[in-house]
This record gives sequence, structure tokens and C-alpha cells, in this order.
Amino acid sequence: MKTVAEILQQQEFAVQDLILLLNAADSSKHLLFERSSQLKENVLGKKVYFRGLVEFSNVCSKDCYYCGIRKSNTNVVRYNASDEEILEACRFAWQNRFGSVVLQSGEISSKAFVKRVEGLLKKIKQLSNNELGITLSCGEQSRDTFLRWFESGAHRYLLRIEASNRQLYYKIHPDSDNHSFEKRLEALQHLKETGYQVGTGVMIGLPFQTLKDLANDLLFFKQIDIDMCGMGPYIEHEHTPLYQHRHLLQSRKERFDLALKMIAALRLLMPDINIAAATALQAIDPAGREKALTVGANVIMPNLTPCDYRKEYLLYEDKPCLDEDAELCRNCLEARIELAGSEIGYNEWGDSKHFTSRISKLNISS
Ligand code: 5AD
Ligand code: FES
Repeated sequence: MKTVAEILQQQEFAVQDLILLLNAADSSKHLLFERSSQLKENVLGKKVYFRGLVEFSNVCSKDCYYCGIRKSNTNVVRYNASDEEILEACRFAWQNRFGSVVLQSGEISSKAFVKRVEGLLKKIKQLSNNELGITLSCGEQSRDTFLRWFESGAHRYLLRIEASNRQLYYKIHPDSDNHSFEKRLEALQHLKETGYQVGTGVMIGLPFQTLKDLANDLLFFKQIDIDMCGMGPYIEHEHTPLYQHRHLLQSRKERFDLALKMIAALRLLMPDINIAAATALQAIDPAGREKALTVGANVIMPNLTPCDYRKEYLLYEDKPCLDEDAELCRNCLEARIELAGSEIGYNEWGDSKHFTSRISKLNISS
């Protein structure tokens, strides 16, 4: 059997190599982390980019088995932040030189919702002299909707595949037309064709998930040639169907460690993509996101959701920063990022380098 040190010398990684890295014992995982950290610095430098996260609505038409804001969870008070509240959060991001915002919501595809997002995008561009970059994370939409939002100013889109193994996907989603694995793959393809920088990701430590599944998730990211990735530990939520399988879960600490190894391994596989330090890491370890930055992540998403709504956007238990206001969140992040040996890319969009080279290759060949 190969050792971690031997695998780290390779340029290409087979599924077995990745499994071995994900299985690295405490005594050898530091080799993986040193390599991923070094690679990040060589390829991308020390900069970390901020994306101010605005969770503007928790109304959702989906029923994913893991998610606390799933449609059937009647314990949740549903909200829609007003345009003014959303724009205020974006103005805060702009004034504090965040560079970009992420607008995230439950999945709604009504005409009114599509139009509303379109209007918001235009207003965010206007209020920031076109300076704020905008990422959307509003679920699966039609090709036409993706295009309309792109033309209104969004240029990055996050849509996690959640699990790239079709069988596992249907263990964590209902087997219905509204939760089709094929449609999810198709949506990722449409996003790419529209011209977005495309981000996807998975949850780590799900019940029924194996290390082989996770290794294949990494190869899936490479195969569909993503520009960005956001992945974090799965955290159980009492009012969801997946909670009944909690006895199958690894400890939270183990899921956390596995998530760090996934980030490090992805950095080896795709050195020039943007990798976000997921908020779920912080739900397990208060310094979780900063630890992710030291092993390969280069994007962090401070929460700018108006405080009153945060307790209703609980995707999972122990979600952090429920009552910190935006200013506090920013101050504590800044100090911690400096501790983690990084610099903040103020006022920069921090686009995925991978996207830039992907597009220039496309232009050369056309
Ligand atoms: N634990 C961790 N992540 C979760 N998400 C949803 N529910 C959970 C959970 N219980 C993630 C999904 C989704 C993203 C917005 O939040 O991956 O894509
Ligand atoms: Fe699908 Fe929330 S209902 S991620």
C-alpha cells in the first residue's frame, strides 16, 4: 500500500489514492495539510476573499431529508426579507470593502420570485457603482431564469450536488420529479453554458456515505470542471427525516476532520479553484473556518443576514453567529483571518483563477 507521503508526490490521483488521503491518520494528515497549504500559497497567494452572505428568504419548495428549512418543517417561521433590508446588507458589504455578496434563499421558481431577484441584482449593481460582485445560491432554476439573472448582474452561482453518487443522492432526497438527480446535473451544465463561474459541493459525513463516495465526489468536481467549491460537514437537525439515522453518524469531531481532509485533497486535485470555508465547520469548532483556510480554502462568507431572520435560517443545529450583528461579525473575522496567516482581498471580486484560464482557453480555441 502507498503511503501518504508517496501519494503527495503524484500529479494525478486515482480514487484509491484519494481514499488513502481521506483516511490519513492523525500522525500523517499534517503532511497532506502542509502540501495543500503550500500549493494554495504558490498558486493563489495569501489572499482570502470575503463574500457577504445574505440569506434573504427561507421559503422553499423542496423537501431534502437533511435540511432544517425543508418545506415540510412546520416549526420554521417563513420569512422574506424586504428589498430595503437586502439592499442595506449589500450596502454594508460594499462600504466595508467586501468585494462581493452571496444572495442565498430556499428554492422558489415562481415568476414573481424570478422577477424580484432580477430587480434586486440590478439595484445592488446600482448602489455599488457596479463594484460589488454577486453570487447567487437560489437552487435549481430553468435555463432561461439562469440567463435572466446572469444578464442582470450575477456572475457566480452555487448549486451543491450534495452527493455525486446517485444512490446516495436518493437516500437523502425524496425520489420525486422535484428532486431529480439528473435535473440537478443538467442545471449545473446550464449554469456553465450561461457563462457563470460555477460552484458546487457536498456534505461530508452523511449517514450511508463511504470514503469511496467522498473520493468520487472529488473526482466528480474535477470531471465537470468546477470553478468553485463549498463543502462542509453534515450536521443533523432534529426536525428532519435524516435525523432517524443519527446512530450511523461519525462523531462531529470526526466529520469535521474529514471535511478538512476533503478541502486539502481538493486543493491538490484542482489547485486554482476557489474553495469556501463553509459555515457548518464553525458549528462544530469555533475556529473551524479559519482552520479550513490553513489547509486550502481561500473564500469566507461572513453572515450579513438581518439578525431577526437568522434563527429562522437554521439548516442544521448549532448554526453560529445567530445574534452577532454584521459589524461584530466582521471584526471578529478579521482578527481571526490574520491569525490564520492570510490577508483579506478587500474590494476585490476574487474571481476563480480556474474560471479565468478556462475562459481564455475557450476563446483561443474558438
Ligand atoms: N448539515 C450541513 N449542511 C446542510 N445543508 C443543508 N442542510 C444541512 C445540514 N443539515 C447545506 C446543503 C445546501 C446548503 C445551502 O446547506 O448542502 O446546499
Ligand atoms: Fe433542499 Fe434546504 S430543502 S437544501
